[in-house]
Amino acid sequence: MCGIVGYTGARNAADILVGGLTNLEYRGYDSAGISILDQSGISTIKAKGRLQELACKIKEVGKPGAGCGIGHTRWATHGEPSDINSHPHRTPKLSMVHNGIIENYLEIKKFLSDKGYTFESQTDTETAVKLVDYFYKGDPFDAIHQALERLEGSYAFGILFADQPDTIYAVRKDSPLIVGLGENENYIASDVPAILEHTRDFYLLDEMEIAVIKPGSVVILDLTRAPVKKERMRANWDIAAAQKGGYPHFMLKEICEQPKALTDTVHPRIRHTRPDFSADDIPADFWSQFDRVHITACGTAMYAGTVGKVLLERLARIPVDVDLASEFRYRDPILTDRSLVIVISQSGETADSLAAMRLAKSRGITTLAIVNVIGSSIAREADFVLHTYAGPEIAVASTKAFSVQIAMMYLIAIDCARIRGMIDDAKTAALTADLTQAIGRTRELLDLSGAIESLAPNFMKASSLFYLGRGLDYALAMEGSLKLKEISYIHSEAYAAGELKHGTISLITDGVPVVALVTQRELLPKIVSNIREVRARGGHVVVITKSGFDLDADIYDEIIRLPDVDDFFMPLLAVIALQFFAYYIAVARGCDVDKPRNLAKSVTVE
Ligand code: M6R
Repeated sequence: MCGIVGYTGARNAADILVGGLTNLEYRGYDSAGISILDQSGISTIKAKGRLQELACKIKEVGKPGAGCGIGHTRWATHGEPSDINSHPHRTPKLSMVHNGIIENYLEIKKFLSDKGYTFESQTDTETAVKLVDYFYKGDPFDAIHQALERLEGSYAFGILFADQPDTIYAVRKDSPLIVGLGENENYIASDVPAILEHTRDFYLLDEMEIAVIKPGSVVILDLTRAPVKKERMRANWDIAAAQKGGYPHFMLKEICEQPKALTDTVHPRIRHTRPDFSADDIPADFWSQFDRVHITACGTAMYAGTVGKVLLERLARIPVDVDLASEFRYRDPILTDRSLVIVISQSGETADSLAAMRLAKSRGITTLAIVNVIGSSIAREADFVLHTYAGPEIAVASTKAFSVQIAMMYLIAIDCARIRGMIDDAKTAALTADLTQAIGRTRELLDLSGAIESLAPNFMKASSLFYLGRGLDYALAMEGSLKLKEISYIHSEAYAAGELKHGTISLITDGVPVVALVTQRELLPKIVSNIREVRARGGHVVVITKSGFDLDADIYDEIIRLPDVDDFFMPLLAVIALQFFAYYIAVARGCDVDKPRNLAKSVTVE
């Protein structure tokens, strides 16, 4: 949610900032702006809309020369998208970019108004900028420190002071920020892709550390002004992974990357024909310490948790609750010393998921994070971490992250079942082999994309679309429905197929499109009956099924036949079909697939 980048060095800062923001635009695209500090002071250019608008404006007014600078791409929280509300925000003394929310901004606004300050934007950020300005008497550290003492909420700040040449100041709390390390040039960024083109080396800025960044030096101070020794990190993502590589959209690229992402995530964790988490520092008896699991996450990651619940309960016979993180944290969950809280997050920065995890930790509960971004807040704060190796996910709609999250849940369920004595070694080996086989067969899904694309014209004009499934298929139906609505703007709902007749079937009339997932043999007669109920009311049915199932042709209008793997592992294949389906409908409707309206990739505000 909002992306920050900063550069200090001998090269043209404006070029580097716009390049960095291009790779951060997935964090917000309501407006963008840059400030450049050179001998003549600070110049600021900002524009409502996509980054392209900013690039045009920079061309119009003339690119600022060399110097150091900060840039921002905004996902609006306080105040509509507009030039004035865009970052950076300014005073004559300084310029600042912000990611997060200042919760007590009204109080600060009042404090500053009483001192004679006026405000031009509707943003919370402007109050923080003017607060630093108020305290600034020539010592940036002191001004920032005094401001932090008054600010409540979450923030990552990048700050330029007009009288501090070549220097960027940065600080964070509950919002991510890294310091990129180059040769006689350095950077700040919300996320690694912003600087990958220039460097893979960085420091993770910890909470309430103040970084003083110059071309030839990076000094990180704690709030007592003592220098902090930081560990130099190296990103293992290369720049190609963060670029489209010839695909029309990141989403399509990321869908197609799933066979590799799954292999990279699962294979290193299989040894001697069973899951093995020893390289992740998970103790051998880990799963036997708990009698209840709580999975908490947001959006797609929560649906991965919903699949995980079915897997864990079915195989390991351990009760599992799944909660939206935004609900978990406020519902006073019942947790005991035998509870395990699993937090699932691609970004590792989702504010609600982080807060849910902190709540569990504050109660002394063991936390395990399943996270894609190494070094992210959730990864750093969890007691135990299982990293998924999907590589950078840039498209706002999550695809490969979901697949690797459920793959991790398969590994956990198999291992947990073995440790709890629910399955013997032979069954463990058989399940592990089935998992590997299913992952291998995900490649065949890529060949089905053309057939799925050809269905898109039949649905691109739909005003509403329903998804049905039972058991594992119901969990997937929810994810399929979310994918469609977030990128195509078609209203969609997912239902447990048996629930339809308790109300929703009244919405099924002639031609209403219904996607029915049919991949679970033990539920076959039931779901087929539910499909017939829909057909009897005129519903237009697309069935997604296994090639091994022999279905009567009169129950569907269209059918997608998936490779035949064990039912238990079908979600790994079915979700890819659902992703293609949503993608091609959105493309047919001319939607901006990678950057759907009102959304941002990394939701770092509550
Ligand atoms: O980074 P996270 O996995 O914590 O993000 C959680 C959700 O915001 C995310 O999955 C969101 O629902 C996706 N954009 C959906 O495609």
